[in-house]
Amino acid sequence: MVRSGIIYDGENLLSEGSYTQGIKDPYWHLHDENFETPYMTPRLTAEGSVFMGGRDVVSLNGDWCFAIDPMREGLRQRWFEHDAQPIDDWSVPRDYDDGSWQKAPVPGCWTTERDEWLRYEGAAWYSRSFEAAVPTDGDRLILRIGAANAQTRVFLNGAFCGLHLGGSTPFFCDLTPYIQSGENLVMIEVDSTRRADAVPMHHTDWFNHGGLYRDVELVKVPAVHTSHLFVRLTDDGVAVDLTLSSDVDGTAEVDIAGLAKGKIEVRAGAGTTILDCAPELWSPDSLRLYDVTVTYGSDRVTDRVGFRRIERRGRELLLNGRTLQLRGIGMHEEDLDLGKCSDEVEIRRRFAHLKDLGANVARAAHYPHHELVARVADELGILLWEEIPVYWAVAFDNPPTFENARNQLVELIRRDANRASVILWGVGNENADTDTRLDFMRGLVEAARAEDPSRLVTAACLINRETFRIEDRLADYLDVIGLNQYFGWYEPGFEGLKRLLQNSDPDRPVVISETGADAVAGMHGPDTQLFTEEYQAKVLTRQVEIAARADYVVGTFIWLLYDFRTDRRQTKHQRGWNLKGVVAADKTTRKLGFVALARAYQRHFRDAD
Ligand code: GCU
Repeated sequence: MVRSGIIYDGENLLSEGSYTQGIKDPYWHLHDENFETPYMTPRLTAEGSVFMGGRDVVSLNGDWCFAIDPMREGLRQRWFEHDAQPIDDWSVPRDYDDGSWQKAPVPGCWTTERDEWLRYEGAAWYSRSFEAAVPTDGDRLILRIGAANAQTRVFLNGAFCGLHLGGSTPFFCDLTPYIQSGENLVMIEVDSTRRADAVPMHHTDWFNHGGLYRDVELVKVPAVHTSHLFVRLTDDGVAVDLTLSSDVDGTAEVDIAGLAKGKIEVRAGAGTTILDCAPELWSPDSLRLYDVTVTYGSDRVTDRVGFRRIERRGRELLLNGRTLQLRGIGMHEEDLDLGKCSDEVEIRRRFAHLKDLGANVARAAHYPHHELVARVADELGILLWEEIPVYWAVAFDNPPTFENARNQLVELIRRDANRASVILWGVGNENADTDTRLDFMRGLVEAARAEDPSRLVTAACLINRETFRIEDRLADYLDVIGLNQYFGWYEPGFEGLKRLLQNSDPDRPVVISETGADAVAGMHGPDTQLFTEEYQAKVLTRQVEIAARADYVVGTFIWLLYDFRTDRRQTKHQRGWNLKGVVAADKTTRKLGFVALARAYQRHFRDAD
């Protein structure tokens, strides 16, 4: 096999890729700094998505072989080309034998697996074997990875299958061309290295957990199958948008149990039908979900969908035609034991706290959270702001960075399009208002609207420090203007907030998308003393009551539910933790700010009776 890259036999540079004496040159991998070049394409993107509702899957969760790879030996020495052969086999590199690697759980974060890996940031390899039969009749065998942070390469039986960029969205890899009958070896390189041209870029206020941290599963689908299904309420009835995996013509059937049935005429792989029906509407007070089934040939998919209408009228938000006020709070994916992993217990605990706060909406910051979050929110009647991590100073002038952000946005929307709880797509957070950023973000707003005309688009913007008004140029393209401000914490007093709200006169709804204050759980003192629980309680109380005075502010998202790990915070109180949670990192100890916020939400941003 000819190998790419510069080959060096110890004395002189050999021509492009070659062996010496019939055995691979033992030094060939020491001088090939282009080792990633052969593994940059194919890219695994939203175009390869498979609609998963109702499909049988084979889970690959469990213990995998695992090794950290800070020097990128896996690609340099092409570990993936050698399955677990005996280490004395002369045809494999001396430094590799995944059969004897450590074990690590999938889903999992290596950062919480071993103390010495907590701050390991770099490449790591997961590998395992699985039994499979070579698909027949044109069927495809697809690997679905719920999320891996932050860029991921998939190899099967020695072949490179694709590269995915993005640490929080599901992606799909068609293994069919590489599957062999019987035992197959899948190897996955996950690289958590932060990069200036990535999304997010290398500077964030959250901890960089690395791992294959959501479900990994195999799914067999027919050659032509449903790749995307979007079912939503429109003025004319229920729209059913169907996208198939190839440009075929045909007819699909849709059945919404107890509501309506119909056919979808498919042309060139896509089709839409409007079912003339009037579903019982979903809302936090009416959790009606319908079972939807769509069949195309032998491919049958299902979903549980709530039908509701979210819109803005002037400076008002409306849910099902009624004024909606947002009593919100932000949340990260961060857990003392689970790292960035979430499970149903952890997710339901978050929502139990939200309910105790009297909150009706959560901001899943600053990246797509686990898909269970929106499913459980549908069941419980909690609204969601979901977003992609276009956070702070992203490389706005770099087209590949835009394509990365756009792809993550489409992957998120395709994953959660049928979740009634999701009312807002957030396309950015605290990005300075520059020309390149405006072009970049306008492109994301357009992409969101093209993918989903039914929801509202927002972003967490900054205030204009010259005019002291809400004047981010991106606001003209948003449905709802999110506004991050920390009067009372990063600047003294609340006069600035009052001035800002009095000076501003937006023509669309505004939410305070972030505000809050750090508090050390258990630290008490006068409410003038920073980092006390009393001080945090005062800030939250004042922030909510002042924001509620502006008739164009339709709600607040307090930052945030739980204290979280971040190395940016190193004061004597913080030591690597952001303490703006109203609950400590143990997700049990409530601070006075919890009670204060609950009281504030009992008085402000109430829905009209
Ligand atoms: C910013 C940022 C958050 C950060 C917060 C803070 O608003 O969006 O990610 O954690 O400030 O200062 O705590």
